[in-house]
Amino acid sequence: MQKHTIVLNSYDLVEKALGIRFALPQLGELVTGFTVRYHGKAYAYVNKCAHVPIELDWKQGEFFTVDKDYLICATHGAHYAPDTGYCVMGPCKGKSLQALHLTEQNNQITIHLEQLKKNL
Ligand code: FES
Repeated sequence: MQKHTIVLNSYDLVEKALGIRFALPQLGELVTGFTVRYHGKAYAYVNKCAHVPIELDWKQGEFFTVDKDYLICATHGAHYAPDTGYCVMGPCKGKSLQALHLTEQNNQITIHLEQLKKNL
């Protein structure tokens, strides 16, 4: 049976550092999601570029650009706003990553997958 939530320790998600990946079997066998912390807040997305549906991170967990202002797809360099998932630069400009609902309290990040549907 598939889980409807993923719970992570808040301390493991460091500001503008490595993101945390997790499996999303709800969307397919090899599909992953990730969460990053940006300006103190945690955000989570399906790890699938809006250009070609492949994972953003070549090196697992490395989602931020060198200057840490954007999330970047390692394949063709699309830049996404970390807080909205909106693609501001690159071949999928104007499209967005699929955001995942997330809450954070008592030093726990909970990613809510109840609403997640295939083929989004
Ligand atoms: S696959 Fe991500 S920018 Fe092309």
